[in-house]
Amino acid sequence: MSETKTKESTYKPTSPNSKLDFASLWEYSEAPESSANLEIKDKYELFIGGKFVKPSKDRYFKSLSPSTEKEITQFAEATQKDVDKAVKAARKAFKGEWSDLKPSSRAKYIYRIARMLQERAREFAIAESIDGGKPIRESRDVDIPLAAAYFFYYAGWADKLEYAFPGKKPKPVGVCGQIIPWNFPLLMLAWKIAPALACGNTVVLKPAETTSLTAMMFAELVKDAGLPDGVVNIVTGAGQTGAEIVNHKDIDKIAFTGSTNVGKIIQKSLAGTDKKYTLELGGKGALILFEDAPIDQAVEGIINAIYFNQGHVCCAGSRLLVQENIADKVIMKLKDRLETLIVGDPLDKNTDIGAINSKEQFDRVNSYLELGVEEGAEVYQSKCSVPESGYYIRPTLFTNVSQSNRVVQEEIFGPVLTVQTFRTADEAIEKANNTPFGLAGGVWTDKGSKIFKVGKALRSGVVWANTYNKFDPTSPFGGYKESGVGREGGLHGLSAYLNLK
Ligand code: NAI
Ligand code: MG
Repeated sequence: MSETKTKESTYKPTSPNSKLDFASLWEYSEAPESSANLEIKDKYELFIGGKFVKPSKDRYFKSLSPSTEKEITQFAEATQKDVDKAVKAARKAFKGEWSDLKPSSRAKYIYRIARMLQERAREFAIAESIDGGKPIRESRDVDIPLAAAYFFYYAGWADKLEYAFPGKKPKPVGVCGQIIPWNFPLLMLAWKIAPALACGNTVVLKPAETTSLTAMMFAELVKDAGLPDGVVNIVTGAGQTGAEIVNHKDIDKIAFTGSTNVGKIIQKSLAGTDKKYTLELGGKGALILFEDAPIDQAVEGIINAIYFNQGHVCCAGSRLLVQENIADKVIMKLKDRLETLIVGDPLDKNTDIGAINSKEQFDRVNSYLELGVEEGAEVYQSKCSVPESGYYIRPTLFTNVSQSNRVVQEEIFGPVLTVQTFRTADEAIEKANNTPFGLAGGVWTDKGSKIFKVGKALRSGVVWANTYNKFDPTSPFGGYKESGVGREGGLHGLSAYLNLK
């Protein structure tokens, strides 16, 4: 692992009252998480019909660790033939053993998966950080525990579907094709597979090409859990493999999380078919900070809203709207806080911001950094040093931006926050709603009445108040406008996997 170098020059806090002393306080010794007990195979096959099988064309693709740029393993590339095989296995399981099973027995399998995820949590967390670049603190404390929580939650519903939807006769939809992104690999898998199985469906899932490791480890877990063959099938590959799933004739439902562009392609392909679908797409969340809010807490909330997971979060709060009279103070405090963030080795327990997920994403975020400057923004980046190899970007603020700037309108999906001001609540609401997206937003204020006024007016699937990025399996999640169609999580998430007559 590459070393994080210490700061070259001492940063002086910008806030006059700041008690931060960067000269003496901020040197941390390394605290690396050991990956000695994690066995990563040289290559992984496809998981179809309960077995690990070779891909029909015998082609494999490399997978790198974005923190070292070194190859960690290879995954099989699934072709149309392989996807067809997986769909057939899922159909066979759906018609056979899985749908004949008592719902309470189905629940037992899902509980078993949840418990086994907890037992293997450490391996999964390390693998997630190596493969995707996220800090071990986040994969250990957020991704993996939450993934297990989604399985626990949906296991509980498996034999209570008639109570969840009184007066209806809930029936599973059938074979579900599920395509997931690279920002929360195992967690997105859990969001997809847990409700699908609880409702009695079978699945063909494709992880993202840069982060397939934990999905293949999950396939091993499914095998060890003794699930009937074909209930869960996992095929690896890139966009083409995803498209084969979307276009397969014998799939009843598509669940996709990823970019708005691909979401639009998928929606077009599904038009005129009777496949059900849910699409969780991009976002450009606004953080509205009123003058009456407790500012220090709000600054912590903003840091968490945008720099969590390197900003690779669809619901990230990537636009700060701050009331004009406190803007200077907030920007000063944000700059000070930025300087304390540690960017570096994802496996170091001190790391706040890990590696950007891939070279492609690294280039994309960097091109937005250039674009911001061209558009006239002022850029502030923390002065921390970053490792020499690997894809790292320092936490960044763009001030002096306007509503029509592309950096304000488009999803950057990196550690970049734009800062705008407002005078009245109505102006804040107007600006917050003025993007093509509508996934998430946040409000910071001391007044409950403002939370209700603004929360109701934001055209946003999720609104957090005086906090951000809080997830719970019982709570629905999803967007308006170009942020997607449908909801995942909670009862809404169940109904997406059922035919309710
Ligand atoms: P992407 O949308 O291409 O990838 C997401 C998943 O879709 C991957 O599993 C990929 O293999 C699959 N896929 C790609 N093309 C497909 C197709 N034609 N049919 C079916 N499946 C297909 O996202 P990408 O290019 O990796 O990231 C680009 C941008 O998308 C990011 O910068 C970010 O702004 C946004 N994004 C948003 C996510 C979110 O959670 N909202 C997640 C990932 C990316
Ligand atoms: Mg990788």
